[in-house]
Amino acid sequence: MIALEQVEKCYASGEGPVQALSGVSFTLGEGECWGIVGPSGAGKSTLLRLMALLEEPTRGRVVLDGVCFAQSSPREKRHARQQIATVFQDCRLLSRRTVAQNAALPLQMQRLPRQEIAQRVEESLWQAGIAHKAGAYPAQLSGGQRQRAAIARALCQKPRLLLCDEPTSALDPQSAGEILELLRQINEGGVTMAVITHDMNAARALCPHTALLREGKLTQVGRTAQVLEGAFQPFAPLERGAL
Ligand SMILES: Nc1ncnc2c1ncn2[C@@H]1O[C@H](COP(=O)(O)OP(=O)(O)OP(=O)(O)O)[C@@H](O)[C@H]1O
Ligand SMILES: [Mg+2]
Repeated sequence: MIALEQVEKCYASGEGPVQALSGVSFTLGEGECWGIVGPSGAGKSTLLRLMALLEEPTRGRVVLDGVCFAQSSPREKRHARQQIATVFQDCRLLSRRTVAQNAALPLQMQRLPRQEIAQRVEESLWQAGIAHKAGAYPAQLSGGQRQRAAIARALCQKPRLLLCDEPTSALDPQSAGEILELLRQINEGGVTMAVITHDMNAARALCPHTALLREGKLTQVGRTAQVLEGAFQPFAPLERGAL
């Protein structure tokens, strides 16, 4: 569905250029669910932003359904971006908007008819298990509820591809398990998915395939159990179950 071909991403910074990704080639097939793991600063969030088509690579290509994103027209780019939703680690909910208003916002920006927005918001809040908090503001929610609200906002877009950046990192084990179950159901419903996680159990529970990033390079790609086994040695925290 989406492929990165020999992608490099270099950022300018006060201390000189930062090579966040180099030589990354990676394909997410239709309906698949991939884990993306690796130490802090390895380039995981950068990879996710490139797949979300929010940033373009310094070199290499991002190809969606066989079409190179960089060579698409502005209209095609808009259409491509609308097929992809991202759930960020910090949820990025607007504090002055209720859960339902937050979910509606991307659809309002797409200028969808009011009735369709209302229907999609209602369905998504139910699916994400947060309908009972539709009128609550983010500050009135628990961490797990905020995560559900962010997932509901993503579902409202009816995405083909859902990208999640550490969706369970701030949650207690029970809430984390519930969010993983919700994501599993969404994937089973046919949505292609990539999930960044530091939690090996989350990767095992949710993702049949995993990609391991180190210092901007993809060092292992394959079945989750094998990749995580290979990732074990160099990191002391792994012995306690986390990447
Ligand atoms: N906008 C930016 N400008 C400059 N440097 C950046 C920018 N975004 C990321 N970087 C740098 O790129 C590298 C990879 O960052 P990235 O956020 O992708 O890592 P990560 O694997 O998601 O880490 P973490 O697990 O801590 O979230 C880091 O060295 C980071 O400082
Ligand atoms: Mg990150």
